[in-house]
Amino acid sequence: MTKIGWQIYKISRAVKLLKTKVQREIYRFYPSFLLDEETRRLKAQLPKPEFTLLISPWYHDFTVLGFHTRQRRGMYRPAQECKQQPLFDLIDRAISLCRKKENPASGIELFCADGFYSNYAVRRGAAMVHGTDRDAYDLSKARLITRILGNQGKITFEQCDVFDIQDTYDFAICAGGLYHISNPGELLKLLRGKIRTACVIQTIYSLSNTSEDYFESRSSRGLGGFRFSYSYLLNMVGDAGWRILEARTNEMKCHEHLEDRGSAYLLCVPDQTRNHNDAGIEREAKL
Ligand SMILES: C[S@@+](CC[C@H](N)C(=O)[O-])C[C@H]1O[C@@H](n2cnc3c(N)ncnc32)[C@H](O)[C@@H]1O
Repeated sequence: MTKIGWQIYKISRAVKLLKTKVQREIYRFYPSFLLDEETRRLKAQLPKPEFTLLISPWYHDFTVLGFHTRQRRGMYRPAQECKQQPLFDLIDRAISLCRKKENPASGIELFCADGFYSNYAVRRGAAMVHGTDRDAYDLSKARLITRILGNQGKITFEQCDVFDIQDTYDFAICAGGLYHISNPGELLKLLRGKIRTACVIQTIYSLSNTSEDYFESRSSRGLGGFRFSYSYLLNMVGDAGWRILEARTNEMKCHEHLEDRGSAYLLCVPDQTRNHNDAGIEREAKL
């Protein structure tokens, strides 16, 4: 990047940060008559900073889990609509695979943001979930909604990089994250050593480049991050020592570029034979 390009990048980041801070302040003065009954009730109970946190926009709308949260504008709602059901289905399957083996099932949610899928998992029978993300702000929202939903005894959250996870778990949820990191294959290998029974993966992949070896950085285009083809993803998962039990795909039409539109959902189990070149999918569906 040239010196001027770098300056422009720094200024636009500073403006964005300031805008977010101003917006968060504005929510302190959100008029009560615009709030739904449940939120108004909480206004009387929560300390002011927590109430501001509650009414500022969320990554996810938690209505389906029992509490309506106002969602951020833009692609957040359509993205949730696209991802939610396939992920719910695969998380259900992962938990039932764990139940067959061990009871109770413990899980980790990587890239958890506001902990939407952690809360779903405990609601569906997981005994304990540990949510991790590097974003302190979304994690504070995660802790708050977890308390509101009454799940605080079953879910813990930790601010850390995804490569710093320590413990072992029965299952993992890794949604919306692989395309954020430069070495997703390494993360899948790390998880192979830490997850006993099942791993649910969701990631964006490119609909425009289908070659097996396509992997590139798209940090300055579209959604940014890293992009790969569907076949690259399947090979990477197999090479990391996972067997794919179920694979689904759908299209995130809310994203402008074809490179950002593919969305894959995988239910994986540790491959005991470690035949890494054969992804061995048992069931595959285009949604
Ligand atoms: C697209 S959101 C995914 C939210 C949710 N899992 C979902 O799928 O709806 C990506 C999240 O990953 C987090 N993240 C990105 N890179 C990370 C890293 N290296 N370590 C930990 N968290 C990271 C971001 O802070 C953000 O909250």
